[in-house]
Amino acid sequence: MAEKNKFYVTTPIYYVTAKPHLGSLYSTLIADVVARWHKLHGKKVFFLTGTDEHGQKIAEAAEKAGKSPQAFVDSFISSYIEMWKKYGLKYDHFIRTTDKYHVKAVQEWLQKLIDQGDIYKGHYEGWYCTPCETIVTPKEAEHKGEAPDCPSCGRPTKKVSEETYFFKLSAYQDKLLEFYKNNPNFIVPKERANEVVNFVKEGLKDLSISRTTIKWGIPFPGDEKHVSYVWADALNNYITAIGYGQKGKEEQFNFWWPADLHVMGKDIVRFHAIYWPAFLMASGLPLPKKLLVHGWITVDKKKMSKSLGNVIDPQELFDKYGPEPVRYYLLRHMAVTHDGDFSYKDLEQTITADLANDLGNLLNRLVTLAEKHGVHEVAPPATWSESSMNLRDESWNALEDVRSYMEDCLFHMALARLWKFIHKVNAYFHEHEPWKLVKTDKDAFLEVLSATAHSLRTIAVLLWPVMPKKMEQLLESLGQTHVFEGDDEIEQLELGRWGTTFMFKKIMNLFVKHEPEEKPAGKEEKTKKEESKGEYIKIDDFVKLHIAVGTIESCEELEKSDRLLKLQVNLGNKIGVRQILAGVKKIYKPADLQGKQGIFIVNLKPRKMMGLESQGMMLFAKSEDGTMKFVTVS
Ligand code: ME8
Ligand code: MG
Repeated sequence: MAEKNKFYVTTPIYYVTAKPHLGSLYSTLIADVVARWHKLHGKKVFFLTGTDEHGQKIAEAAEKAGKSPQAFVDSFISSYIEMWKKYGLKYDHFIRTTDKYHVKAVQEWLQKLIDQGDIYKGHYEGWYCTPCETIVTPKEAEHKGEAPDCPSCGRPTKKVSEETYFFKLSAYQDKLLEFYKNNPNFIVPKERANEVVNFVKEGLKDLSISRTTIKWGIPFPGDEKHVSYVWADALNNYITAIGYGQKGKEEQFNFWWPADLHVMGKDIVRFHAIYWPAFLMASGLPLPKKLLVHGWITVDKKKMSKSLGNVIDPQELFDKYGPEPVRYYLLRHMAVTHDGDFSYKDLEQTITADLANDLGNLLNRLVTLAEKHGVHEVAPPATWSESSMNLRDESWNALEDVRSYMEDCLFHMALARLWKFIHKVNAYFHEHEPWKLVKTDKDAFLEVLSATAHSLRTIAVLLWPVMPKKMEQLLESLGQTHVFEGDDEIEQLELGRWGTTFMFKKIMNLFVKHEPEEKPAGKEEKTKKEESKGEYIKIDDFVKLHIAVGTIESCEELEKSDRLLKLQVNLGNKIGVRQILAGVKKIYKPADLQGKQGIFIVNLKPRKMMGLESQGMMLFAKSEDGTMKFVTVS
């Protein structure tokens, strides 16, 4: 069967107990980039996001806030919609699980499963984790009697004992295993797939899918003292949003379903990889094609989450850096399949190095140079020189590689690959010294401008899903307008064969540099940074150090400096006497060190400080009370 020329991508629907944070932004951003990537290929795309508004967690939060659940969830919706707009997250539909069409469709779905015997009434006893909205099975808890902590998030659970409706999950165990076997790429990355398969192999119990002890949920059809378990309600958003259970929308539903990609964090893989496929099997619907399970954004290595209260506010980043540099950073810095720590320092370095220096500057140099020499338009040369042809080949290689990484959702790899090409273009531009060529060989000069512009065009098109506005500006500066919808832009790039005429137009710098703030050269600061990296060095690194014992023959204060002491150190016959500067004037008086023995690194590259050369480094160590002590030998 021919592949439909469509792509349906979803995000998790977020619990609305607060405004959106960087974690929810991240999942939504991934979906946006995937959606745009497929638009770039001229596909019809549907991008769904929204909010999960029922359940115990919301009911409890609303009560705490002194609001009705509906008023409580309503109060956050505009902050989601506005934030997604600020970050250019261009979804096609925003579903709220309190939307009437959704509620009605879920009730019909429940009724269908009741009628066909996949849902039956029983009694349930166990423990419930409200933050995760999940039942902790006795097997998971390995525990009888007192309420255990949730094996997923570690927080205390509450005992529940109630009449409930069960979904016959156990009946789907074998079918699920067969499905995973036949679809080895269903879950990306593979590690997550293995976890899921092992979990299912251990045996699935029927799933409790109704609650009588809470009221904030979708009423069970025909038995209204029950409400639907929030996950049975929430997962169905992926089908109700595109018309499931709504008269007259069958064709639309059949066009978009099955989803091509569900994006989610690793905290909710079990719901999507086990319950959701089982629900769909019971409904007689095809299963989604792929789940992309991304890692967590952490802060100081802890998951950033509303319940832990360590969230980063996307508004703050928007105000300080603008949306598209933040989009780039999140995709480049986070390996999508792993956790990644957020840091302002990395963010600023990435913006400065990758965006302002490597990319923004390249465009700027090109357009400024063209303008300076009155070149407004440049046509491709009749024949390309060898080095330009090499660059052209590189651009096609980059395109192929980026395409392949993007198809696998390896955004960080795609961007790293693209930057390899950007470095090549910079090198090409630099090596040809067009600012000199213009005086000696005008044709060669124009060729360099043209080849650089062709390269930048490829870069801009490939980067458009990540930084749409900035790349549209870049292209405009090259006299290019792209619509990015309807046409296969990637094919155009390939077919264009570097035959484009560019028209240069100077624009404002695309990106702003963030130079690190000047900090006094405090040693403590550095130690802290290095520690927090938590990286090991190898023994090979250590053996590179030449460490020697020396006697401090003289020591004096450097008047001009408030940190430095100047030492003359006798390091024995082989090494001799060396001048070494030590930044400990605040802690030691010359008399404290004079005549003492210390430990020195003697193969450190000599370095000038305050006009004097330091020919080594004296070792100090921090004692328990935080003061620095010099290291000596007994
Ligand atoms: O679980 N890093 O909603 P939720 C990366 N309503 N992603 C993060 C993140 C972090 N630190 N924190 C949250 C729910 N996320 C359910 C979903 S779907 C039918 C129902 C993202 O508000 C990530 O995608 O707890 C995670 O899976 C999701 O937000 C959880 O959002
Ligand atoms: Mg959560």
